[in-house]
Amino acid sequence: NKVVLAYSGGLDTSVIVRWLQDTYNCEVVTFTADIGQGEEVEPARAKAEAMGVKEIYIDDLREEFVRDYVFPMFRANTVYEGEYLLGTSIARPLIAKRLIEIANETGADAISHGATGKGNDQVRFELGAYALKPGIQVIAPWREWDLNSRESLMEYCAERDIPVDFANAKKKSPYSMDANLLHISYEGDLLEDPWAEPEEEMWRWSVSPEAAPDQATYIELTFEKGDVVAIDGEAMSPATVLETLNKVGGANGIGRDDIVENRYVGMKSRGCYETPGGTILLKAHRAIESLTLDREATHLKDELMPRYAKLVYNGYWWSPERKMLQAAIDDSQQVVNGVVRLKLYKGNVIVAGRKSEDSLFDESIATFEEDAGAYDQKDAEGFIKLNALRMRIAANKGRSFL
Ligand code: ARG
Ligand code: SIN
Repeated sequence: NKVVLAYSGGLDTSVIVRWLQDTYNCEVVTFTADIGQGEEVEPARAKAEAMGVKEIYIDDLREEFVRDYVFPMFRANTVYEGEYLLGTSIARPLIAKRLIEIANETGADAISHGATGKGNDQVRFELGAYALKPGIQVIAPWREWDLNSRESLMEYCAERDIPVDFANAKKKSPYSMDANLLHISYEGDLLEDPWAEPEEEMWRWSVSPEAAPDQATYIELTFEKGDVVAIDGEAMSPATVLETLNKVGGANGIGRDDIVENRYVGMKSRGCYETPGGTILLKAHRAIESLTLDREATHLKDELMPRYAKLVYNGYWWSPERKMLQAAIDDSQQVVNGVVRLKLYKGNVIVAGRKSEDSLFDESIATFEEDAGAYDQKDAEGFIKLNALRMRIAANKGRSFL
């Protein structure tokens, strides 16, 4: 008879607090997390108190988010459907885990969230919750109530004296947005026409490539075991790394994306994303791996990556298959150490240099000049002939490959 709600402090989840109290006659525990969405989380406390909430959790999860979710995902160079860097997807398992921890601490038997019945987020929250606490009850108000417009939500607020800042709620962006340290996303409204280009004012984190400086910016990223630990030689915590890359990336017009993606629930959906830091991180990580990882290890990672991306997108972070893949990915990263030098210029991330103590690049072998004898060009003849053997046998027997 107690429910833990993922509470943002905004209009929708404020209505949910009251609705849960009214509909289920239950004690509501609110949980608000700072995961770098760039909005104050403390105001959520007063709002929850005003609605009679007694147990209020407000957590700063920024470091945990980047260290234990974003970085592990980037070790795999994870990209969904060739484009999406999974900014929203990767935050959900952390929220699910905290909801369950708080349920355990407060003796709650249910959790609740503000995701709609049409999206991916409901799946991610609930798969996570069930995996971590199989007996938990889930209440998803958007699948139950009939407050299906902004107007009906506002009306409900007025009727049930829910403290909302009406002026603020009205001038709110028309888009459905979700922000954290990895990205900000926009869906809905004008974007529902896949042919319509987003208006420039929509984007909040980056300048357009056209408006970016004419002078390139150089940065150096230091990697240890696949994670960035320093920028321009200065050691930084995971969250600070991402924050710093977001700033410099955004200032150079990096990380905008406009896509149509396939939701797990079956529909196609158009979304715009700004992922400046993530876009830089992905390029840099590939560059340091190119120097330090064995060929077959790299190729195996590249085969596993789409599976891993799909599992993160679909909400299976807390699953046996994610644990297995993560163990393999993390094992590969022991040698992924070194420095990558990047040039950021008008929306582009250009690798300018890479170096590593763990480099497998051997100039004396790769050189087009006279080599030291480690590679005998004559060996290539037999290598090619044996690899051609099965085609030659088949061709001799009359098969054609034209
Ligand atoms: N389509 C993206 C995803 O599924 C972003 C979802 C945004 N969520 C939100 N509540 N606005 O990961
Ligand atoms: C929602 O439906 O709550 C947001 C979009 C999504 O989860 O995919």
